[in-house]
Amino acid sequence: MIILGIESSCDETSAAIVTDNNDPEKRILSIVTNSQIDLHSKYGGVIPEYAARSHVDSIEHVIEQALKDVKVKLDDLDAIAVTSGPGLIGGLLVGVVTAKTLAVLNNKHFMAINHLEGHLLTTRLCYNVSFPYLLLLTSGGHFIFAEVLGIGNYKILGETLDDAAGESFDKVSKMLGLGYPGGPMIEKFAEKGNPNRFPYTIPLQKKTGCDVSFSGIKTATKLHIESLGGDITEQDKFDIAASFQNIVIKFIRKQITKAYKATTSNPKSVVVSGGVAANTKLRESLLEFSKENNLNFFAPPLLLCSDNAAMVAWTAIERIRSGFPYSNLDFKTKPRWPITDI
Ligand code: KG4
Ligand code: ZN
Repeated sequence: MIILGIESSCDETSAAIVTDNNDPEKRILSIVTNSQIDLHSKYGGVIPEYAARSHVDSIEHVIEQALKDVKVKLDDLDAIAVTSGPGLIGGLLVGVVTAKTLAVLNNKHFMAINHLEGHLLTTRLCYNVSFPYLLLLTSGGHFIFAEVLGIGNYKILGETLDDAAGESFDKVSKMLGLGYPGGPMIEKFAEKGNPNRFPYTIPLQKKTGCDVSFSGIKTATKLHIESLGGDITEQDKFDIAASFQNIVIKFIRKQITKAYKATTSNPKSVVVSGGVAANTKLRESLLEFSKENNLNFFAPPLLLCSDNAAMVAWTAIERIRSGFPYSNLDFKTKPRWPITDI
């Protein structure tokens, strides 16, 4: 099976050719991504209209290049898969309309893919991970603990009550004037900082579930910055970044412990995915948690943590192999699309 995947739900325009080869290392034949980071960094966040225009400008190029890189023709494809939600509507429409048009013109199957399902199956694209597994999906817009029981069978154990973790990294980065996306900048600054300089209380201590909330941590960070009286040195920035990152990871560790206790399927592995999964300290903490509980730990390679089309094509392969139908061409793009509703 050979699939063209297309991703344009946020700030990356990406196309990939992926096969169902048994060897995970041979599955991604090509991947071409145009990142819009330079476009949005001066605004400290994604500007949806600019993002959509940039997707329009580069979508044809990334698709053509992905096909060219492996000398695959549209006619060789089994299906065309595209992120059809959740995400920014302008970008989503660019990808979906392009995919539908290519499918019609070339008489190919069309597959509408949920972006979150793409993130949560990325690890199975890269490694032979079997179900069930305990998942932490942590991106710019989502934070979910789930028990992944099979394709399309996702039991949510906990979610964020307010901001996603990635969003809070982005906001703290903006407060410190470090730019967008904030995660990598905060991580870099944290390396030189003292994680214990600024005190925080762990959120939701009185709640029993495994939901998370990052808005209190964000507000505490704002107050710490204000307490410095507007005269912030480089070392202050390092220490704020380190203290903030430290409390976020500590909190996640506490809540994943609860999420694991709430599982009912006896998962043998912990899987982390989404943009924040690129964070080394978070990966280390989750690895430690996994070892303590005799669980395997899997995280995608850094390049596949952030948005990419390989995960979209792979999700189509997983769904086709599991007997799910192709999508109809009248599939409506969904800016909101929970993983429990796929
Ligand atoms: O999954 P993703 O690429 O896009 C969404 O679907 O949202 O995630 C992007 C998010 C951003 O908030 C970014 O700041 C965060 O992932 N991120 C990180 C790191 N790299 C990216 N957060 C913490 N540490 C990182 N190294
Ligand atoms: Zn994403």
